[in-house]
Amino acid sequence: MSADSVFQTLHGLAVLMWLGGMLATCTILRPAGLAVPSRVQRLQRLVDIFPRLFGGVWAAVLILPISGVALLRLRFTGFETAPRDVQIMMGLYVVMVALFLRMQGLQLPALRKAVAAQAWTDGAIAMKKLRRLAVGGLLLGLATVVLGMARQF
Ligand code: HEM
Repeated sequence: MSADSVFQTLHGLAVLMWLGGMLATCTILRPAGLAVPSRVQRLQRLVDIFPRLFGGVWAAVLILPISGVALLRLRFTGFETAPRDVQIMMGLYVVMVALFLRMQGLQLPALRKAVAAQAWTDGAIAMKKLRRLAVGGLLLGLATVVLGMARQF
């Protein structure tokens, strides 16, 4: 197996982890997405689920630039000679990471705090914001995949 195919495989797997994490977040945050009897239980369950779910997304956040930069060096020798669409891909990655850091660093602690204080309205607001960010992360991820795949044709 060549270095190129190793990094291409890692890049592809990281893309799947990102999209999977965002899709799962959108799905479980939908009103019908988690089968629990009450809104209170729903918020409590979400606080437990997110750290595990976001573990996979963190792996993607690390593997995407490592494998991407390796591919870039193997195929185009460096950043300056990289095609415009790969440069756009890197820009979109930065935006995607910024969204994820907001989810992990702001909205998840807000959700946790609301559940600990039994402030259910605040919890619902944090959940709504998390969902909006996850939809953004999913759409940007899909757009980046289209960009990456379009290069192959
Ligand atoms: C720092 C971030 C990234 C870098 C440096 C990077 C770099 C690259 C490079 C060099 C290629 C090969 C292009 C070619 O040979 O024509 C590639 C392909 C690709 N990238 Fe990225 N990428 C990054 C982030 C992302 C993200 C965030 C996604 C989507 C979530 C993504 C999805 C893809 C796809 C679908 C392909 C085409 C399939 C493949 O060749 O494996 N990339 N990327």
